Amino acid sequence: MNYKSDILEGLGNSICAESSTNNYSQKLKPFYFNPKRKTKIYCGDALDILKHIPDKCIDMIFADPPYFGNQSGLVIKRTDGHAYTFDTQKAQWAYSKPIAEQFKFHYSWIKEAQRILKDGSTIWISGTYHSIGAVNVVLQDLGFKILNDIILHKRNAPPNFLGSCFRAVTETLLWAKKNSKGKTKFNYQQMKQLNNGMQMKNIWEYWAEKNPFRHPATKQPIVLEYAILASTDEGDLILDPFAGSGTTGYVAQGFNRKCIMIEIDQEYCSLIKNRIEGKYGDFKRKTGIERKV
Ligand SMILES: C[S@@+](CC[C@H](N)C(=O)[O-])C[C@H]1O[C@@H](n2cnc3c(N)ncnc32)[C@H](O)[C@@H]1O
Repeated sequence: MNYKSDILEGLGNSICAESSTNNYSQKLKPFYFNPKRKTKIYCGDALDILKHIPDKCIDMIFADPPYFGNQSGLVIKRTDGHAYTFDTQKAQWAYSKPIAEQFKFHYSWIKEAQRILKDGSTIWISGTYHSIGAVNVVLQDLGFKILNDIILHKRNAPPNFLGSCFRAVTETLLWAKKNSKGKTKFNYQQMKQLNNGMQMKNIWEYWAEKNPFRHPATKQPIVLEYAILASTDEGDLILDPFAGSGTTGYVAQGFNRKCIMIEIDQEYCSLIKNRIEGKYGDFKRKTGIERKV
């Protein structure tokens, strides 16, 4: 039996397996829906909203969950031009949490992610050295097959101002399939072509560009470009449960993919809407035309 949920309404013919969730009688109102760009934003807690999505509907998930690495109340003055100030009093989602709570959080959303992914489809999860270890353990414990750990190398990352440890210039992006069954959805040849005919490596290097909006942890669009081109086709449905400034949806619509984003903070939901509507400029592809070192 096939099932169509209200969360998928207006997004084309996304047919899903019968759902094991029991919340779909309760309608969810999107914060924003752009039928032309097939993009939806749900403003709320991903742990609740994910339960409304039926099984095996989603072609790819990109998630950049809270890192839980910041001290509460710390105000960091940034000097690298990417965000003027990172005030963790506002970014409460980034506060550190006891490790047991971090595991509980990751188990609850990653279990849902596994349920809603189609067979053979993949999830990308980004994190810092504080957070990615717990995510890796949870993925493996739930039976995901980890395909790669992609090293994101920001060439112009800021120095370690205190000189107290090495300059941190990388983040990790785990790429995993929902289980070990079936063929992985991977556009291998396309990625090879993008890498001048050579097999692409698990190190993605880029120059971080300044944003005209404020979000303390926005991803560079080129990272999303690689992930989306590698693991989806035109018309596929992408989900981002921790959308932040909406980089996933911004790139997804640029490549004619459908996208559902979830974000808990109202201000960020408005920022995403503005970004999708082109307030900060139309989508400009970065892959294939990246500046050389
Ligand atoms: C690391 S940021 C994501 C940044 C995003 N990748 C981008 O490019 O802008 C994490 C985001 O998750 C949101 N968040 C934290 N907990 C959440 C939850 N339970 N449900 C939905 N969003 C949440 C935060 O408000 C924050 O914007």
